[in-house]
Amino acid sequence: MSNTTRSTALVTGASSGIGATYARRLAARGHDLILVARRADRLEQLANDLAGTYGVAVRTVIADLSTEAGVAEVGDILKADVSVDILVNNAGVSPLGSSTTLPQEVIDTMIAVNITALTHLSRAALPGFIARNRGTIVNIGSVMAFNAFPITSAYSGSKAYVLLFSKGLQAELKDTNVRVQAVLPAGVATEIYDGSIMPLDSIPKELVMSVDNLVDAALAGLDSGESTTLPSVNDAELWTRYESARDALFAATQTGNPASRYRF
Ligand SMILES: NC(=O)c1ccc[n+]([C@@H]2O[C@H](COP(=O)([O-])OP(=O)(O)OC[C@H]3O[C@@H](n4cnc5c(N)ncnc54)[C@H](OP(=O)(O)O)[C@@H]3O)[C@@H](O)[C@H]2O)c1
Repeated sequence: MSNTTRSTALVTGASSGIGATYARRLAARGHDLILVARRADRLEQLANDLAGTYGVAVRTVIADLSTEAGVAEVGDILKADVSVDILVNNAGVSPLGSSTTLPQEVIDTMIAVNITALTHLSRAALPGFIARNRGTIVNIGSVMAFNAFPITSAYSGSKAYVLLFSKGLQAELKDTNVRVQAVLPAGVATEIYDGSIMPLDSIPKELVMSVDNLVDAALAGLDSGESTTLPSVNDAELWTRYESARDALFAATQTGNPASRYRF
């Protein structure tokens, strides 16, 4: 992500919150931008601001990433525009509620945006990135990727997908210069809480990060070569130990026999 080479970053969900802040930071680093979301007015305003302030080229794409057509439109751009070398898969929704009270269509839309669109867009970008041996995908997950509560079952599942999809891609790409970073934020002050059963003001202020701090920390993690970034976690060893425990557990599954506690 150097600013010495001209490059374009495509940021999904750039009309507010974390995506809008990524757009601002990437523009400040000199990247041209393609900004994707549904709210045209927000995108246009941001595009004009960033083009004027940083002198970068900014294009907006109004697309609904819960639809096949919206995903295909953005995917086609990723396939065709060889200047794109950064994809920030940030667009997401987090409907909270129990699995029996959330309407099925709300969960379906969440899966479409959080999982399906992220997967399609990654797959659209990757062949070009691999052919050019250059490119970065930033996948915005959540700390809910490794925990679930009574109101987060489906959301946690969607973010667990983001984490493991990113981990698998990292393994696939390990002999290339193509990078995949999973960013796992905890609470961040954005509009995602608007209208939620857990509004922002119901969360203790000291547990909520500002969106500027979140994106700056995530970019610092990217710059330092991290594959998974937990912006709010002070003790980085915790993640190392979590991964070690997971690897040990996985290795222990490879026995081919029922464990002795299941044999009578
Ligand atoms: N805020 C937090 O506490 C927190 C914590 C962990 C992870 N995250 C993750 O961070 C990411 C960004 O969320 P945020 O907190 O910045 O929330 P936000 O301010 O609500 O932004 C969400 C963005 O996603 C876009 N989006 C939603 N549905 C879309 C659709 N169908 N098609 C295209 N774009 C769509 C929205 O744009 P339009 O509405 O204009 O389409 C908006 O730009 C999400 O993946 C979220 O899960 C957030």
